[in-house]
Amino acid sequence: MNNEDQRIERIKKRVKARQPAGRYQHTLGVAKVACDLARHYGESEEKAQIAALLHDYAKDLKERELKEYVLNHNLKVDQGLFETYQLLHGIVGAHMAKAEFQIDDDEILQAITYHTTGRVHMTPLEKIIYLSDFIEENRDYPGVKALRELAYKDLDQGLLQGFNNTIEFLVKTDKVLHCNTVEARNQILREIYTNESG
Ligand SMILES: [Fe+2]
Ligand SMILES: [Fe+2]
Repeated sequence: MNNEDQRIERIKKRVKARQPAGRYQHTLGVAKVACDLARHYGESEEKAQIAALLHDYAKDLKERELKEYVLNHNLKVDQGLFETYQLLHGIVGAHMAKAEFQIDDDEILQAITYHTTGRVHMTPLEKIIYLSDFIEENRDYPGVKALRELAYKDLDQGLLQGFNNTIEFLVKTDKVLHCNTVEARNQILREIYTNESG
């Protein structure tokens, strides 16, 4: 086993110890498809795997714990993010990845940070992690198969569909929508439209 494999195994072991069985299974599913998408699109499989393994590292913290973590570490979050505490596990997870696993690669940290909301001008790795979260093999909902196929066919189209699904779901279930998600969706939509018409 080389150094990198050892590093991955160490991360897996600690994530497994921290997450309930179902969450860990989801994490492994995200890592698998993220790695595969990274290979497919010529991105770093190693970065995809690390970001995927740690994307939900903070997900099982309670509302109070997430908010305290943000305040204690002076993390920069807007009011919308702070109040919708379910979204905080992205930025908190990224901070924990840096503090506990010495991950200092910004691309990895940002992929973890923005997997909860998305943002405008996402990097390919951010797009891969955002989408992998929705299409990993344990996910089962109407349209997941089509989204999986789209993710491999066109990463941006897949991302747009991912945003659309999220926005539709949040509206239908009367939940708060973060402005990053709306802005990210509009930006990728414009980009696709411009490329198609130009
Ligand atoms: Fe998450
Ligand atoms: Fe997740």
